[in-house]
Amino acid sequence: MTKVLYICASPRGEDSAAVQGARVFLGALADSVTVTEFNLFSESLPEYTHTLAGAKQKTMTAMELSAAEAAEWAQVTKLVDQFLSADHVLMAVPMWNFGVPYKFKQYIDLLTHPGLTFRMAKDGPRGVGSATGTVIYSRGGNYSPKNGQPDPFDFQSPYVKAWASLVGINPLEEVLIQGTMAGPEAQQQAVDAVTGQLTGAAAGLS
Ligand SMILES: Cc1cc2nc3c(=O)[nH]c(=O)nc-3n(C[C@H](O)[C@H](O)[C@H](O)COP(=O)(O)O)c2cc1C
Repeated sequence: MTKVLYICASPRGEDSAAVQGARVFLGALADSVTVTEFNLFSESLPEYTHTLAGAKQKTMTAMELSAAEAAEWAQVTKLVDQFLSADHVLMAVPMWNFGVPYKFKQYIDLLTHPGLTFRMAKDGPRGVGSATGTVIYSRGGNYSPKNGQPDPFDFQSPYVKAWASLVGINPLEEVLIQGTMAGPEAQQQAVDAVTGQLTGAAAGLS
């Protein structure tokens, strides 16, 4: 049975273009697939405190944690366990100021630690997990490559791809929903334009 972890990084609920795309993907999944939804704006993600930073440092150097550090670090390992238990990670990620929403960055900072989600191998870092992934980017404008060159303002896709590769999400299918700021009709058209890609990606899971 395939387990999908759906990470939602938009606060806009069903108005979100990325969420609308995710609904298409989820609706096309086989009945045998189970889905866990994790909404980064409604879950209370732990803050990176002095204590949590200390716990990370000590864990990386195999030192014993204080009771306070262990309690905060347990929140991190809970997120890591949830992430590593997924066979497929579906991410709905808006573009905010050319990058990703701060809650998504917070999630990445909480999740990404050597020994937990990646290990150093001879040829560089290697992800601990073995999930495949789909990321749906929603964007007010259009940041497709121009004249064969990547858009210099797109810090969203290169960043997510680099992180996904670090933690072992492979392959990662990217789905672009663009031009949403032109109004609700334009948003609907942009979602409709990727329906085939989304249902195709979902159909590959069983
Ligand atoms: C804080 C914030 C920053 C944004 N920055 C950008 C941006 O840099 N480029 C862009 O094209 N759209 C930007 N937008 C517009 C969103 O990308 C667009 O509304 C998108 O549809 C949001 O995703 P959602 O509909 O899935 O919530 C921004 C929106 C917000 C709220």
